[in-house]
Amino acid sequence: MMRTHTCGELKKSEVGARVKLCGWANTVRDHGGVIFIDLRDRYGLTQVLFDPSDNKAAWDIAQGIRGETCIQIEGAVTARPADMVNLKLATGEIEIRADQIVLFNRAQTPPFPLDDEDAEKVDEELKLTYRYLDLRRVKMQRNLIQRHKIINDVRNYLDDENFLEIETPILTKSTPEGARDYLVPSRVNPGMFYALPQAPQQYKQLLMMSGMDRYFQIARCFRDEDLRADRQPEFTQIDVEMSFLSQEDIFKLIDGMLARIMKVAGHGEISLPIPRMPYDEAMNRFGSDKPDLRFGMEMVDLSDVFKATTFKVFANVLASGGVVKAINAKGLAGISLGQADEWTKIAKEAGLGGLAHIRIQADGTWKSPITKFFSDAEKAALAEKLKIESGDLILFAADKAGVANPALGRLRLIAGAAAGVIDKSKFAFTWVTDFPLFEKNDEGRLQSMHHPFTSPHVEDMELLESDPLKIRAQAYDIVLNGTELGGGSIRIHSPEYQARIFKALGIAEREIEDRFGHLIRALGFGTPPHGGIALGVDRLVMLMVGEDSIRDVIAFPKTQKAMDLMMNAPAHVDARQLRDVYLQVSIPEAKPPETKPPPAS
Ligand code: AMO
Ligand code: AMP
Repeated sequence: MMRTHTCGELKKSEVGARVKLCGWANTVRDHGGVIFIDLRDRYGLTQVLFDPSDNKAAWDIAQGIRGETCIQIEGAVTARPADMVNLKLATGEIEIRADQIVLFNRAQTPPFPLDDEDAEKVDEELKLTYRYLDLRRVKMQRNLIQRHKIINDVRNYLDDENFLEIETPILTKSTPEGARDYLVPSRVNPGMFYALPQAPQQYKQLLMMSGMDRYFQIARCFRDEDLRADRQPEFTQIDVEMSFLSQEDIFKLIDGMLARIMKVAGHGEISLPIPRMPYDEAMNRFGSDKPDLRFGMEMVDLSDVFKATTFKVFANVLASGGVVKAINAKGLAGISLGQADEWTKIAKEAGLGGLAHIRIQADGTWKSPITKFFSDAEKAALAEKLKIESGDLILFAADKAGVANPALGRLRLIAGAAAGVIDKSKFAFTWVTDFPLFEKNDEGRLQSMHHPFTSPHVEDMELLESDPLKIRAQAYDIVLNGTELGGGSIRIHSPEYQARIFKALGIAEREIEDRFGHLIRALGFGTPPHGGIALGVDRLVMLMVGEDSIRDVIAFPKTQKAMDLMMNAPAHVDARQLRDVYLQVSIPEAKPPETKPPPAS
């Protein structure tokens, strides 16, 4: 036996036992002849003591050991002297008096310190280059352990609920989820390409058509899109689809799953059902389809208050059908001029003409370049609607609702963070429901807000030709603390409806056949009503362990530039490999072209 115990389990009850442990030298301390090694493995830390009088040869080896060397030790469990007991450590009541040591592999000095506190200050690229060392850190190990536990629990939960885990292909055909595809050339079919799945969307629908009834998969997805802290080019979904259902069945299933996950993650009970909010309400009150409900600072519509205003900016916006909205950023009257400029810049980036604001001073007077244009009645209404008090900062957004809402929503998040009112210990879940079926893209064309297989509310379908932007979808997102955890929809199960939607999206007849012919044909063979959802595992685990980036909960993530710095991927391949797949590389510029994803979604 290489080891009798792990480094995290020996207690007082084992005092006297002879044990063998394996692990890494976390720290080595020489205390005047006696050497202490804190031996570490995934399970914990055990203090090991080498005394030359026990075995001089072992002590000699121990003395030459440096941090991160991999060793085996053997010795007797002894109780620590009372003043040396460390109750913060699971094994803190004992130590091993070792008389044997085997050196498996010496470690060079690591390129960065591996204790969590120091490692946090190290450049992330360096840590990603030596990811195997980074993953030795206690925090990273805890994150991956939690990830495993959560996924394991999800599997058990869905199995209990009669779901089948079914794998779907990775080499497949382009399916529109709104990003660019990763393409793989086919050697045996010259000039043809597979696309890696952006999601198993069509396969899971086809499985419902196969009568599988309830499907899930811990599915890897691939999307070539601009990366952020909560986006990776490959990521994992808890992908779910069910037949003969209504939205209620999905809400209930996922409510139960999230309640279980919260418990597994050590966050206790949440009250069910998770609240629901229609998309319109989320946009109107919070300026976001993923509202952070951990704090207030709700947006207030002041269009009525200013309907006869003499303040030109507001009057012009209202005359052209826009809205005037504001938030009360409580207690922020004292923000610096620099901060105010910064926020104005953000407002302008979000499309506003500027950022009108009022500082409510300590004596209750209002300081603002615009209040001189307000009537007494307008001021009184403002004070009442925004519950204005000394020390408050009022921020205004005036524009079309489609611009003003998201702009003020962004400022709300920034103001909330600045005011320190976002309670980090809170978990505020919400469903956002009734998304619009379509939106207009940058080129003014209609595109699916979710994906083109999403069913509208049937009673809205009559608007398809007359006012498609008004159609509500049977689509929903699950949101936690301002992050979109997952999204899904009830699907279209009639070939006629599906064809009408493709047509409304402006997809040409031939393209429909090329890209979706298989699906439309399948819809003609007795398709059950079906729907589903996919939750981002990486985002879920990130929020459960309290990290800010999904890179911290993925074993081998990629950088913002989609690079795996440890493996050095992507990489050039040799000419022969390219010839095998009938490819020639031509790079006019070093920068990748700014292409748009395909327009179908
Ligand atoms: P959607 O595109 O909304 O839906 O994706 C579902 C969830 O997947 C996560 N996610 C990501 N996580 C990390 N990096 C990314 N690049 C990334 N992109 C998405 C998010 C998101 O909420 N097929 C549909 C689901 C369905 O209709 O059933 C789909 O993929 O947490
Ligand atoms: P102006 O008359 O352009 O100098 O604007 C007067 C004030 O209104 C300034 O504080 C601007 O920042 C602000 N402002 C201008 N356009 C908007 C807008 N669309 N929403 C909110 N505030 C605005």
